[in-house]
Order: sequence, then structure tokens, then C-alpha cells
Amino acid sequence: MFKTPTLTLNDGHKIPQLGLGVFLAEQGKTTQEAVCYALTHGYEHIDTAAAYHNEEDVGKGIKDAKVSRENIFITTKLWNDDVRSSNTRKALETSLKKLDLDYVDLYLIHWPAEGYVKAWQEMIKLKEEGLIKSIGVSNFQIHHLQTLREKTGVEPAVNQVECHPYLSQIPLFDECRRYFIALEAWSPLGGARSQGALLQDPVVGEIAKAHNKTPAQILIAWQIQRGIIVIPKSIKHLRITENCDIFSIKFTDKELISLQNLNKNQRFGSDPDNFNF
Ligand SMILES: NC(=O)c1ccc[n+]([C@@H]2O[C@H](COP(=O)([O-])OP(=O)(O)OC[C@H]3O[C@@H](n4cnc5c(N)ncnc54)[C@H](OP(=O)(O)O)[C@@H]3O)[C@@H](O)[C@H]2O)c1
Repeated sequence: MFKTPTLTLNDGHKIPQLGLGVFLAEQGKTTQEAVCYALTHGYEHIDTAAAYHNEEDVGKGIKDAKVSRENIFITTKLWNDDVRSSNTRKALETSLKKLDLDYVDLYLIHWPAEGYVKAWQEMIKLKEEGLIKSIGVSNFQIHHLQTLREKTGVEPAVNQVECHPYLSQIPLFDECRRYFIALEAWSPLGGARSQGALLQDPVVGEIAKAHNKTPAQILIAWQIQRGIIVIPKSIKHLRITENCDIFSIKFTDKELISLQNLNKNQRFGSDPDNFNF
């Protein structure tokens, strides 16, 4: 079984660099079984959110896997309505109840909705109380990070954003590195909305052939080699296994440049400066 490399966050906690995402994973047995399968086949990290409506299934999958709590890393997220209505504490308590956990390893502000500074201040307290190990944000642009810094002086441990070769996020990645904020890539394969565009990209395909791997494995390994946390989603056992069989891949400089040159700042998801949910 593989061992996921870890990154050390700016608060000293460690995060496994590869995790299983469960956005759009069907509620019920599907998610429960995918989570249990992943945790019993080498994954140590699951990424869910209140807005995915599957925290209970994730919790059941964790129980089924019979793994020690301290050996797994669970992330969930504070939804926008709860940011806007200053409902952070209650929202976290609800998530913990659904997950059937005493604490989460990482709690993220899902989007920079109005009120995110207040939510952040509340999260700082909840971390001190031990209900969260690490606090972070998601879909924060450089200016949102600057606002948090100016208003609270506390840097997020993680910023989880859309990131793949068509949206390589180099300026944001550089800014995050400057402040020791780990970058985490969502939709590393382009997500359901990309309709396989990245998986069918000829440059990715050529590199996959050279390594005798699949395009999905190339897209995941690229993030690992860049030092980015990556959370591909699948509910299929074969793909869950495929997506973690990537740690032997080492790209040449030429391949890294080819992948980097695919950037066109193209989002498949929403723009954090212009979202309406
Ligand atoms: N913070 C945020 O705002 C935010 C937004 C979006 C996502 N996320 C997180 O990031 C995770 C990943 O992003 P994502 O789910 O949008 O997209 P993704 O991981 O890039 O892509 C998932 C899609 O690719 C398919 N897939 C998985 N492995 C594959 C493989 N080896 N070959 C071909 N297809 C494969 C999946 O289908 P099957 O399931 O059928 O295999 C699914 O349709 C999410 O699950 C969630 O945890 C966070």
C-alpha cells in the first residue's frame, strides 16, 4: 500500500498531500462505501463540506473503515449562508455531529462570502477550543488573503482553490508560499463541468503515454510534484486506486514546462470575485 507524503502546515500540523474529494458524490451508501474503500486502501485524507450534504455518509464510511482517528485527516467547510449570518459555531457543531467526530483536522471558509472576517475570528476561537486542528480558507484571491491579514493577523493554514494545468494559479501559489499558506487544488482533473477537456488534452496524453500512466494520474502527480495538496474525487474503486498510484511519477523539466504552458487562466468553476450563491 502507498504512503502519502505529508506537508507541514504553518501551525505545525501535517496534512497528507493526496486526499479523496466527495463533491457531487451521491448521498447514502455510494459516498459511505467510497470513503471506506479509500481509507482501507491507503488514503488518509477526505475532503467534504456542509454544502455537499454527505457529511453523515463520510462519517459512516470512516466508522466502517475502522481506522484510528489520529491516522486520518478530515476536512469540512463552512457554507456561505453561515458566513453571512455569523453562524460559524453552530455550523461547525452541526458538521461535527453529522461526521460523528469530536474535531475536524481542517475547517475552511468555503467562499469569501460577506462576513468572512467575522467568521475567521470565530474560527480562531474554535481552534483554540480544540474543535478544529487547522483553520483555512477556500476560493480566496490574493486580496481576500490580504484583508484577513490586515484585520486579524492570522494566516490561514490552507487555501483550497480551483487548480489544474488550464488554471495553474502561479501568482496565487507564489503569494501563498510567501506567507506559508499551503495551496490545495480542487477539480484537479477539471471536475465534472470540464467534460473531460483536461483528460483528453493531447499534451497530457503524450506525457501519460511516456510514463505508461493515465491522463488522470499525470494531472494528480503534477500537483504533488509542485508541492500542492490535491483531492481528486471518485466514487469508483478502480479510479480511487488509479488516482493514488502516482507517487513513482517524476516529470522531466521539459514535461513540466509543457504542462505549465497549458495555462490559459480558464475556470470550469465559479469566479471567487463574482459568485452569487
Ligand atoms: N472548495 C471548493 O469550492 C471546491 C469546489 C469543487 C470541488 N472541491 C473539492 O475538490 C474535490 C475534487 O474536485 P471535483 O470533484 O470538482 O473534480 P475532479 O476531482 O477534478 O474530477 C472529478 C470527476 O472526474 C472523474 N474521475 C475521477 N477519477 C478519474 C479517473 N481516474 N479517470 C477519469 N475520470 C475520473 C469523476 O467521476 P467518478 O466519480 O465517476 O469516478 C468525476 O466526474 C471535490 O470532490 C471536493 O472535495 C472543492
